[in-house]
Parts: sequence; structure tokens; C-alpha cells
Amino acid sequence: MNKYVVLSFIRRVGLIQIADYVRFLVNYAGTFRSRRAFHKRNPGVVLPPAYYLYETFNLNYESFYSKSRDTAQWLVSHIAAFEQFDNRKILEWGCGPGRVIRHLPGILPSSCQFYGTDYNAKYIEWCRKNLKNITFFENGPEPPLPFPDNFFDIIYSISVFTHLSLKSHYSWFDELERVAKDGGILFFTVHGEVFKEKLTDSEKKLFERGELVTKAGTKEGHRTFAAFQPPSFIRQLVKDHQILAHHPGVKENGIPRQDVWIVRITKKSG
Ligand SMILES: C[S@@+](CC[C@H](N)C(=O)[O-])C[C@H]1O[C@@H](n2cnc3c(N)ncnc32)[C@H](O)[C@@H]1O
Repeated sequence: MNKYVVLSFIRRVGLIQIADYVRFLVNYAGTFRSRRAFHKRNPGVVLPPAYYLYETFNLNYESFYSKSRDTAQWLVSHIAAFEQFDNRKILEWGCGPGRVIRHLPGILPSSCQFYGTDYNAKYIEWCRKNLKNITFFENGPEPPLPFPDNFFDIIYSISVFTHLSLKSHYSWFDELERVAKDGGILFFTVHGEVFKEKLTDSEKKLFERGELVTKAGTKEGHRTFAAFQPPSFIRQLVKDHQILAHHPGVKENGIPRQDVWIVRITKKSG
């Protein structure tokens, strides 16, 4: 039987979070040596508790820290094609325990201001205690964000819509639009075509019809709640704005990567 059909069954009977936690414990035991070796090689690097890494990314200290510095550079180079980085207010919405944003103050000019938000209070508390030169706020599972209208030049969000319901796609997109300046940049990633292999046959049909597919039965926003976004769905979501780029995800070493969308927010006057 297909793995995704079995997971759908576990989800239907309400056991997906428990199964996921067991998976974490197995991972935790299996990475003992590599985690200890990372700390020996990098005694000055402060990392969040292991479960935070697992919940938001994966339990690999090297990827979480060193490879995510490359991810921060990758993010900057994508946005730099459309926007200068002098004196910019930059928000990461859904920053988790700071994997990417922690690197930005070291990469971008000191004239930029950095903000991170997440709906998980534990991550924000950890970020506030441990990461410098970034302002962190907790947001609710529903909008609003704690910022005035037209505040940010650049907003980015990595793998957050991938855990939201249909209703939240619309409410959060509207909220990001509200806090972005007219002409501001919105960069986000989603599960595009390359993730179709993770869908059951009936889910694939929905996806191919251009509908958002969600695997729910668990807390919205958690890693066990998954959403899959056909490109036509995203085009419809952002339809009042200018799409600057869409980079469909491909497989790297057999692992599917998320689609990248970069949008210029264009506000109607009046
Ligand atoms: C897969 S993790 C990605 C974390 C981070 N962006 C990264 O790339 O390392 C998804 C993140 O979205 C956050 N999240 C989910 N729903 C949210 C919401 N409504 N508002 C803000 N953050 C949310 C989760 O708490 C989690 O930190």
C-alpha cells in the first residue's frame, strides 16, 4: 500500500501528531553523534532545542545553521534582482526559531531593520533571548500582525502557506498586503507541482484542477498540516499584484524543493 495512503489513514483516525512525535524521538536518537560533533566543531553557536528544529525544518544541526546561511544568501540574491537593500524594513512572517533571519544582519547593510514574527510563542521567546539585531513579535493564528499599514519594504515567508487552510491563504495574503508598502516585495515559497508525488490519487485530481489541497486533521500551522498550491491557485491569490518571478521547485538529490514566488505589491489608490 502507498505510504501516503497509510499516512492519510493515520491522519483520519487523529493520530498524526503522535506518529510525528514518535518520528522525532527516533530522529533524536539517531542524530546523537552528529549533534554532539556539531557542538564540538562550533562551540560558540547557539541553537534552539532539538524539537524546534524538527518541528520547523529538520533535525540536522549542520543544515539548520551552516546551510541556512546559504539559504539566507539565496533569498537575498533572489530579491536583489528587483529591490535595493539600503535602509529597508524587512519582515520574515513565520520565522520559526530564526533559522534564516538570524543570518540577515550579517549579510545586509546595517541601515536595514529586521523583524520576525511567528504564531508559536516558544519560538519567539527563544529568538528574543538568543538572536541580536532583530525585533521579534508573536502573532495570532489569524491576522492581524502587530504593525501599521504600509510598513515593510520587503516581506518574506518560507514554508508557511504550506501549513495553512484555504481561508487562511486569503486572510494572511490580505494581511501581508496591508503591512507591505505600495511597491514592496513579497517573497514566499509553497508546495508546487513537484510535490504532487506526496498526494493520493483523489488529491492529485484536485491539484490538477487548480484547487488548493490540504491534509488536515491536525492543528493548522503545525508541520503535520500540509497544503499544496497549484501555480494557477497562486496566480489567482495574488491576482491584483505584479508577479515578478515564479521559480518552480525541482528535485535536488531526490528531494522536492518548494516553488518560489516573488510579487510586487501594488496598491490601488483611493
Ligand atoms: C515549516 S516552518 C518554517 C519556519 C521558517 N520559516 C524556516 O524556514 O525555518 C513553518 C513556520 O510557520 C509558522 N506558522 C504557522 N502558521 C503561522 C501563522 N498563522 N502565523 C505565523 N507563523 C505561522 C510555524 O510556527 C513555523 O514556525
